[in-house]
Amino acid sequence: MQDLKKVDDIAKKYAEMNTPLIYILKDVQKEFGYLSQPILTQVAQVTDIPLSEIYGVATFYSLFTTKPKGKHIVRCCNNAPCFVNGSKEVLEKIKEYLGIDTGETTEDALFTLEFTSCLGLCAVAPVMMVDDEVYGNLTPEKAVAILKDYKMKGSSNA
Ligand code: FES
Repeated sequence: MQDLKKVDDIAKKYAEMNTPLIYILKDVQKEFGYLSQPILTQVAQVTDIPLSEIYGVATFYSLFTTKPKGKHIVRCCNNAPCFVNGSKEVLEKIKEYLGIDTGETTEDALFTLEFTSCLGLCAVAPVMMVDDEVYGNLTPEKAVAILKDYKMKGSSNA
């Protein structure tokens, strides 16, 4: 259950400063991890901004998400240098291992799979990022081995 009182605190803090909505949503998402329907409704009530406008902002900007994300965000580069070096095969193997498509989150909420544009590391293509860590010279097997490590660490923390 989400503590919507925290939404009130964040929104009220910014209301006094007449801050743009985007900053309020950014802080609210930082607190809750994503922007659910009840959270957006609460923001609308506290700020007196129409829900349709808030929903429009929350769904327009890619930095916002209205769905919960996994503990680890896996971003696969699919720009040309990575593509010609086998990123498609790497991505297919990752999808198969995680059992999800890009844009989805695993049932255990451990991984969310996304695309990323060029990370500036084309010399070691194909490349993926897991949270803030970058992994290059990937093969499908190497990518899965990396994710297995994260999974093992994740389950040992449980
Ligand atoms: S194209 Fe993938 S890192 Fe540059």
